Amino acid sequence: KLNKISIAIDGPAGAGKSTVAKIVAEKMSYIYVDTGAMYRALTYKALAENVNIQNDQELADLLSHTNIQLSPSEKRQLVIVDGIDVTDVIREDKVTNTVSTVAAHRLVREKMVKQQKALGQAGGVVMDGRDIGTEVLPNAELKVFLVASVEVRAERRHLENIQKGYSSDLEKLKKEISLRDQQDSEREFSPLRKADDAIEIDTSSLSITEVADRIYQLANERMEK
Ligand code: CDP
Ligand code: CDP
Repeated sequence: KLNKISIAIDGPAGAGKSTVAKIVAEKMSYIYVDTGAMYRALTYKALAENVNIQNDQELADLLSHTNIQLSPSEKRQLVIVDGIDVTDVIREDKVTNTVSTVAAHRLVREKMVKQQKALGQAGGVVMDGRDIGTEVLPNAELKVFLVASVEVRAERRHLENIQKGYSSDLEKLKKEISLRDQQDSEREFSPLRKADDAIEIDTSSLSITEVADRIYQLANERMEK
């Protein structure tokens, strides 16, 4: 019986990765690593420091001088960049609509993947992103690929915005999500892709609890092997 396994969760924007990854990690007392937050953190810093987001080398140099920490707190995971809490600002539109450009660069990905592999080294980790099952944790005992229609995913984000009291435009969200899906799937270096050994779950008509329970059940099956 394996003690601690690694769980990779990939899929497009709004499929429910981070929400269920957090629940599964908590249930199993594993660490949760939100790799999207790392790309968002770098994007935030590049925008703040006027670094050319088309220039891979400049971004990679910036990343070398940036300390990104994911620190679990009571309610949610905090994202700390060079000692400053950026948890909320990295979710703003400006970052969301730029992050896929930053994340497409080869050197940026090499450095990020290296850091993420180190975080997952000891096992006992639930990691979510786009290339976790294919690049970051290719030996993960459990790989899950979450999908849902663009309509459902945009609706979810829309609802989330409204609940937070933000203004929200459903049609605009659909376009932004589709564009990001396209950029993430069509890039040259570690594109968004289901690993051959990943289990696909369509979350379109499933609740958060149903998805989390399913993954938890799969994880327990893997541990008994
Ligand atoms: O939560 P949401 O689905 O909106 O996105 P995220 O997980 O925060 O990721 C933001 C962006 O980072 C994605 O659209 C990708 O461009 C990039 N990303 C990536 O390239 N590789 C990862 N492992 C995770 C995120
Ligand atoms: O991390 P990712 O971008 O894949 O998605 P998320 O941020 O975890 O989920 C996007 C939104 O969908 C959140 O508001 C979740 O509460 C919601 N959600 C849902 O309604 N039903 C699910 N089965 C999963 C997520």
